[in-house]
Amino acid sequence: MTSALLPPPRTPDPMDAPSLRWGVLAPGKIAHSFARALRARTGQQLQAVGSRSRERAEEFAREFGVAAAYGSYAEVVEDPDVDVVYVASPHSEHHEHALLALAAGKPVLVEKAFTRNAREAGEVVDAARHAGVFAMEAMWSRFLPHIDVARRCLEDGVLGDVRTVFADHGQALHPGGPQRLHDPALAGGALLDLGIYPISFAHLVLGSFTGVHASGVLAETGVDAQEAVTVVGPRGSLGVLGATMLAKTPTTASVCGTTARLEIEGDFYGYAARVRLVTPDGTVVDEFRSPEQEFGLHHEAVEVARCVGSMLESPLMPLSETVDIMTAMDDIRAQLGVRYPGE
Ligand SMILES: NC(=O)c1ccc[n+]([C@@H]2O[C@H](COP(=O)([O-])OP(=O)(O)OC[C@H]3O[C@@H](n4cnc5c(N)ncnc54)[C@H](OP(=O)(O)O)[C@@H]3O)[C@@H](O)[C@H]2O)c1
Repeated sequence: MTSALLPPPRTPDPMDAPSLRWGVLAPGKIAHSFARALRARTGQQLQAVGSRSRERAEEFAREFGVAAAYGSYAEVVEDPDVDVVYVASPHSEHHEHALLALAAGKPVLVEKAFTRNAREAGEVVDAARHAGVFAMEAMWSRFLPHIDVARRCLEDGVLGDVRTVFADHGQALHPGGPQRLHDPALAGGALLDLGIYPISFAHLVLGSFTGVHASGVLAETGVDAQEAVTVVGPRGSLGVLGATMLAKTPTTASVCGTTARLEIEGDFYGYAARVRLVTPDGTVVDEFRSPEQEFGLHHEAVEVARCVGSMLESPLMPLSETVDIMTAMDDIRAQLGVRYPGE
């Protein structure tokens, strides 16, 4: 039994971070959410936006008061007034766009999944290290207050020895959802868009995996529609994970230790999550409710702003972990028989 309570999050005030001038590449759905969150919750500046279409860039610039709108991504990274670049293109393009920013000497925040595969991820990491420039995967959940509560529970041994993690992420996105998700050429599928959340969470909790086992179902286009994944962690720990783009699932996570467990609900990976500390007999000992009721992407942005200038990677989302996670996803795709064109 545990007598401990949930530790409070250490998440700093997003308004306190140094103010950087951001350049946004690819003003699609998530770039809009990112810009809204920055405007609403931070002192970060939206300096430039680049699209394959100047009209789309200008529209985005008008909506968010961005100083410069370009009809190419190259112009953004070359803009001397841009301090840091946010890559918000589809998975298939991240490698090229991250390298573009790094070649211009610009720190870069790259949407999840970082790249299509571990080889590409390793090349981006090598380029960042060679240039001595900051890079980070935009796994926004890592920087949310409730995830820091979970992280502190692990650090403080609140749960005893962690044995098992359960986590799932399912959304009804196929058929009928964004075309990007169904297209192998854009590295679509449930895994890179949705499965990465439970996999990254299990990696955060358990550490490096020693085994990965997957079974799944493919969509008619050849991308993965859904998968069940077990990961084996250190000291006999196990993660039981799922992802689907065919149906909404509970999107919960549990972290089960020898003396207590955490139950995370309300989209375990999202801004409005709730964490409960539960004893083995089912008693709810404590509960943490996220203070965020909207937005969420601003926490990753201010993590970048705090790191740039003094660190080449974030201790909360290290590059080695990003590559490890991409390696696990390569393994899962190999077991499912999913290959993207040109791999
Ligand atoms: N953190 C989150 O909660 C979250 C949520 C959703 C998605 N994401 C991630 O964000 C990334 C983008 O997803 P999204 O939903 O924003 O996609 P989206 O709405 O399709 O936007 C992607 C943008 O990329 C640009 N682009 C560049 N090359 C392209 C190509 N070959 N085909 C199509 N578009 C191309 C397009 O902008 P221009 O043509 O105007 O340049 C497009 O609008 C993915 O990595 C995804 O996993 C993250």
